[in-house]
Amino acid sequence: MRKTTLITGGAGYLGSHTALQLIEAGHSVLILDNLCNSSREAVARLELLSHSHVDFIEGDIRDAALLDEIFSTYAIDAVLHFAGLKAVAQSVRRPMDYYANNVFGTLNLCQAMARAHVFNLVFSSSATVYGEPARMPIVEEHGTGKPANPYGRSKLMIEELLSDLALADSRWNIAVLRYFNPIGAHQSGLIGEAPSGRPNNLLPCLTEVASGQRAALTVYGNDYPTVDGTCIRDYIHVLDLAEGHLKALQVLQGDEHGLHVWNLGSGTGYSVLQIISAFEDVTGLRIPYRFAARRAGDVAECRADASKAGRELGWRAQRELTQMLIDSWRWQTSNPWGYRPQPAPLLAVGS
Ligand code: NAD
Ligand code: UD1
Repeated sequence: MRKTTLITGGAGYLGSHTALQLIEAGHSVLILDNLCNSSREAVARLELLSHSHVDFIEGDIRDAALLDEIFSTYAIDAVLHFAGLKAVAQSVRRPMDYYANNVFGTLNLCQAMARAHVFNLVFSSSATVYGEPARMPIVEEHGTGKPANPYGRSKLMIEELLSDLALADSRWNIAVLRYFNPIGAHQSGLIGEAPSGRPNNLLPCLTEVASGQRAALTVYGNDYPTVDGTCIRDYIHVLDLAEGHLKALQVLQGDEHGLHVWNLGSGTGYSVLQIISAFEDVTGLRIPYRFAARRAGDVAECRADASKAGRELGWRAQRELTQMLIDSWRWQTSNPWGYRPQPAPLLAVGS
């Protein structure tokens, strides 16, 4: 039977781009996703782009019986684990959902992997585990901090759980990838970020303003100790991020044991105002914005030192900000309703 990579959350934003790259590199993949923040249409688009059938199971990582069935049916040799809830504000309102889904879901997945003797795991972590960073750029060895919300704490708890697991059982090969700020989309405009609810992240909010779905962009805080008072982030193209997963998988499937942590960022920081201005240059549009109070939990600057991934994975982010913005905008204009079909126009009374 052909070796297969299981991609949990593979219908989502980052998982779908990574799935496509894996398929293009000749891997066999199986996507497991409960579609709580994605759509079957994403899988259909993957089939269109890859000119191949994509194995997909609609199901939940918390379902142990389903996981056992999957591991006994497919010859899975590695798992890329993207599945999780990621909306920070929602995590403050519904912390138990985040711990149940993210932490318990990962625990359940690891237990099913162990039962099936599958020990290669790549986990989607976040720069949020650094909390308020003491030094910039952030090096993995600086250690984690205190994440500001239940979402961030769920990621840190998972990292600790995985670290204990790797210490206790040397068969595990685990890559913890700490993402900085992924943006952009596949150059076809066919797959991209399509959150089910109202977005909170900068790029989806910005493209909603640009396309007229939102009147103005709210810029949270203009009194940070940065070049123009707005927060600085390290934006990374989703395709660069996907390539990082392929490299990590290659290293794990070599002779690498234990748990390894790698930052995936570009190393370059941009302020919110710099992003707005670059987006205006790329699109020729004007983005109305207004300043508001700081958003709880935001740090002034968050930027990666990604040299460890450079040395150990042979990976570095290649794509520039302009490319990220062009690709985000192409995705938004080609799919104003995400993967949903265009809503039917309301019929006038009497027509
Ligand atoms: P996403 O919401 O687009 O994708 C996550 C996918 O997981 C969705 O398709 C969702 O339906 C699925 N899912 C959620 N819970 C599930 C469950 N219990 N069982 C099965 N499927 C489930 O999010 P994304 O942006 O692609 O993020 C992927 C991962 O990367 C997440 O774990 C997220 O926390 C992490 N991450 C994302 C970012 C970012 O900026 N996008 C940054 C840092 C870390
Ligand atoms: C956020 C989360 C982080 C999570 C990541 C991916 C917080 C505090 N952090 O990162 O835990 O891993 O998303 O889901 O929520 N901004 C505006 N106006 C907007 C939206 C954002 O000014 O409408 C600003 C923010 O204040 C921030 C920057 O843009 O300074 C980037 O924000 P965002 O895209 O939400 O990413 P992070 O906050 O870095």
